[in-house]
Formats: sequence, structure tokens, C-alpha cells
Amino acid sequence: MKGIVLAGGSGTRMYPISKVYSKQLTLIYDKPLIYYPLSVLMLAGIKEILIISNEDTIPLYKKLFEDGSHVGLKISYAVQPAPRGIAESFVIGEKFIGDDSVSLILGDNIFYGKLDFFYKSVQENNSGATIFAYQVTDPQRYGIVEFDGNGKAISIEEKPKDPKSNFAVPGLYVYDNKIVNISKNLEPSARGELEITDVNREYLRLGELNVERIGRGVAWLDTGTPEALLKASQFFGVIEDRQGLKVACIEEIAYNQGFINRDQFAKLIESIPNSLYKEYLIKVLDD
Ligand code: DAU
Repeated sequence: MKGIVLAGGSGTRMYPISKVYSKQLTLIYDKPLIYYPLSVLMLAGIKEILIISNEDTIPLYKKLFEDGSHVGLKISYAVQPAPRGIAESFVIGEKFIGDDSVSLILGDNIFYGKLDFFYKSVQENNSGATIFAYQVTDPQRYGIVEFDGNGKAISIEEKPKDPKSNFAVPGLYVYDNKIVNISKNLEPSARGELEITDVNREYLRLGELNVERIGRGVAWLDTGTPEALLKASQFFGVIEDRQGLKVACIEEIAYNQGFINRDQFAKLIESIPNSLYKEYLIKVLDD
């Protein structure tokens, strides 16, 4: 299973910072936003990861993660010249995906809690697609799944004016290798994008779409507005302060997942400048 983090887009809702800075690099409490989705892939055991972003931001991600080997990953990078849709990830990533299955996570999606629903779908690596459904109060803003009386998904609509349910599709998707051809054959939508919802509709039409509902014990946080970013920072500030444990600390996850051994972890810590982040990692090593 390969992993893609889509971290481009115009981010205009974050103007004026969007003129010079990418939203996914914004600090969420004590680390850049992109650490949170990246850590979700790592926790599922995915080590080969493609980061897609716009031309201006890719150099910043390269500086941040290099080739990923310090955290036991193999990270590569690709440019999306313009935000032409989430499903374009699979056209851009065709070579990277090769003959494998792939999980896509949006670089601004944060998940916190027991993420077994995702780990299971990665491990099982079934054919077809697995997407998730999460109850929200503002369904007009998302891809929305409608279920029949037996809990089977029967329709998906992108940002419906008149939503058929409150179940939104979060930006976390698991696809078999058909995804590449399905995405290549998509027609751009009225807003000129290759829509991920059209991909999911195609899997639904083929009878190969599995929709797993995410329980209420999991937090899927929005980062679409400055207020949402502040709330996410406060959320993780409260949790980290209470437990003394960091969320989405990719270095710690790499060590705990066995992506790097103790010596590599110690060496990695040595390379980090003096900071609270380093102090935390020293504590993890000593424990
Ligand atoms: O967050 C989940 C939702 O994400 C889903 O429920 C929707 O079905 C899906 O279309 C998407 O909706 P958004 O309105 O949130 O999509 P947005 O255009 O804001 O893009 C989501 C992220 O992906 C954002 O951080 C920018 C990035 N992106 C987006 C597009 C369209 C890219 O990097 N390239 C793109 O071409």
C-alpha cells in the first residue's frame, strides 16, 4: 500500500497568509498541520509516501522532510501545477502508485482517536474502494453519503444544497489499483476539477464501494477557516498538556512503529536543535 498526501490548493480562505504560505504548514499547536495527516498514514504502516503540492510549496516540504529516511520513510514529491481537483492526485501519482493500492489523505485533514477503521482497511487491502462516513452538523460543505435502511451506501453527492444525510466523507480514502484509470477517465466538473466524489460514484456504480462509518469516539477536525485552525490548536494543546504525550509526533511514531531502531532514533534526536520538541523526544528515548 502506497500513501499520498495532497497538500496543495489555493488556500485563499486563509488570505493574506495564503499569499506567501501554505495552509498545511500552519502550526497546529506545536507542529505543522501536515504532520497530522502524515502520521495517520505512518500509524497504518505505510512507508512509501508521495507529497503533492504546488510548485512554490514543494521546496518547503522537501526542506521539512527531505527523503524521509530519518523517520524510516521513503518520501517523494510531485507538483500539481494548479488545483484541478483531488482526483488529479492519482493521475499525477500514476508512476508512484505503479501496480499497488493507494491511500490518499488530504493534507488539511486531522483525525484523532482510535483509527482502527483505517488501519483495518489498509491491512485488508480489499479490492475496490473504502471510504469513510462521519456525522457532521454542516453537510452542505462536504461529500455526503446516503445510506439505505440496511446501512448500504446508495448515493454520494458533492456539497449538496439539500443533503440526503449528515454523513460526510472525510479526506481519507483507500483504493485498489483501478483508481489510476478511473481518475484518468474522469471529466472535469462544472468548477473545472477532477472530483473525488465522481471517483467514489464510479466505484459505487461498479458495486465496489465500501463505506465505513466512523464512530463518535473519533475526532475529525476541520481546518477550513482561521477559527477552525485555532480550535484544532487548542484541542491538541489541551490533550498534550494533560497527558504529557504528543499527538502526530512523526519521529516518535517512526520509533514506536519500528521504522527506525533505537540508534537511529538517538541520532535523529541529536540532529534536532534544542527545543521542547527535542526534550520530548529525549524523554521518549529514555522511557
Ligand atoms: O475534507 C473532506 C472534503 O474534502 C470531502 O468531503 C469532499 O468530498 C472533498 O471534495 C473535499 O472538499 P473540500 O471543499 O474540503 O475540498 P478543497 O477544495 O478545500 O480541498 C481539500 C484539500 O485538498 C485542501 O487542503 C487543498 C487540497 N487540494 C484541493 C484541490 C481541489 C489540492 O491540493 N489540490 C486540488 O486540486
